[in-house]
Amino acid sequence: MISDAMKFKAFRISERTFNGKTDYVGEVVDRSIGELPAGEVLIKVHYSSLNYKDSLSAAGNRGITRQYPHTPGIDAAGEVATSSVPKFRAGDSVLVTGYDLGMNTEGGFAEFIRVPSDWVVPIPVGLSVRHAMILGTAGLTAGLCAEKLILNGVSAEQGEVLVTGATGGVGAISVALLAKLGFSVVACTGKLEQESFLRSIGAAKIIDRLTLSEPSSRALQKERWSGAVDVAGGQLLHNILSSIRYGGSVACCGLVDSPAFEASVFPFILRGVNLLGIDSVNLPIEDKTRIWDKFATLWKLPDLERMSCEIGMQDLPSALDAIRNGKAVGRILLEVSRSP
Ligand SMILES: NC(=O)c1ccc[n+]([C@@H]2O[C@H](COP(=O)([O-])OP(=O)(O)OC[C@H]3O[C@@H](n4cnc5c(N)ncnc54)[C@H](OP(=O)(O)O)[C@@H]3O)[C@@H](O)[C@H]2O)c1
Repeated sequence: MISDAMKFKAFRISERTFNGKTDYVGEVVDRSIGELPAGEVLIKVHYSSLNYKDSLSAAGNRGITRQYPHTPGIDAAGEVATSSVPKFRAGDSVLVTGYDLGMNTEGGFAEFIRVPSDWVVPIPVGLSVRHAMILGTAGLTAGLCAEKLILNGVSAEQGEVLVTGATGGVGAISVALLAKLGFSVVACTGKLEQESFLRSIGAAKIIDRLTLSEPSSRALQKERWSGAVDVAGGQLLHNILSSIRYGGSVACCGLVDSPAFEASVFPFILRGVNLLGIDSVNLPIEDKTRIWDKFATLWKLPDLERMSCEIGMQDLPSALDAIRNGKAVGRILLEVSRSP
């Protein structure tokens, strides 16, 4: 029986001031069920995962999280503990990604979350709770990118597709998924030493991020790729748009280089290039569910374990730093109840 007084572990970020300088410090603390926000579904979290946005929330980025102390974790998977709606029953395997989870609602870096029922996706048969979180928000985003590129006419027969931030979360799952779907994938990375990892998950070719970051004002460059998944923005996005083949598309989903980029209309009006926006956060739940169903069936990825490492809550500070500094490789899975 779960009561409001029941305690559980959570990783909380607090604001601390030392010698006039504000810092954000993470530690594992005891919370009680009664302190969780209102919501119809209480979930016993088995796994969460680390995403770029979590690293910003943990570092005190007010564009992500307005108030501290706060529990980050923009995604979580586990089992329903209690539900006040008939759609979910205790013991159901479920996941939550996005909406406000981990931003201003207490997130998945905890043994329990409580959320509105319309944020909750049943984990489809064919996908384990663990694999759902190796995919996590990054996987959902990669799936949305691949689906939108294909819907806009990008096909494997048209030539290579490019993925930026290829060793990161969204990047690695995009490489693996597009390769599984028959595309010849060019992985753009700042970590050339990870070539064997990238090839092992399906990259056909590796290119150095530096070659794509070079400043160029040319609106049209040599046509190279039929499509691209871009997590970077900034100069990379400019250079990618100017190198997309006639009629091709770019799925724009991130800003690790810069949220701003210079653009010219020429790729759009002379080559019919499409710039496709991707949002995994406020996407209607039906669309999220469709992508998860695909990952359990047609898009089932065989190498998820190879693409990930597992940590416990005590490892979060260093893992979050690695993500924020672009050093992480593949997906980082948080097993919330793992002992130190
Ligand atoms: N639109 C959405 O719904 C949505 C959902 C999830 C994530 N995102 C966004 O997508 C981006 C990636 O998220 P993630 O969770 O995959 O992060 P991540 O795991 O930290 O991966 C980011 C990767 O980008 C590369 N990178 C780092 N700094 C870079 C720079 N200055 N220029 C170009 N590339 C750089 C690095 O890979 P290499 O060393 O291999 O280049 C890094 O590992 C973030 O901006 C995030 O906010 C958006």
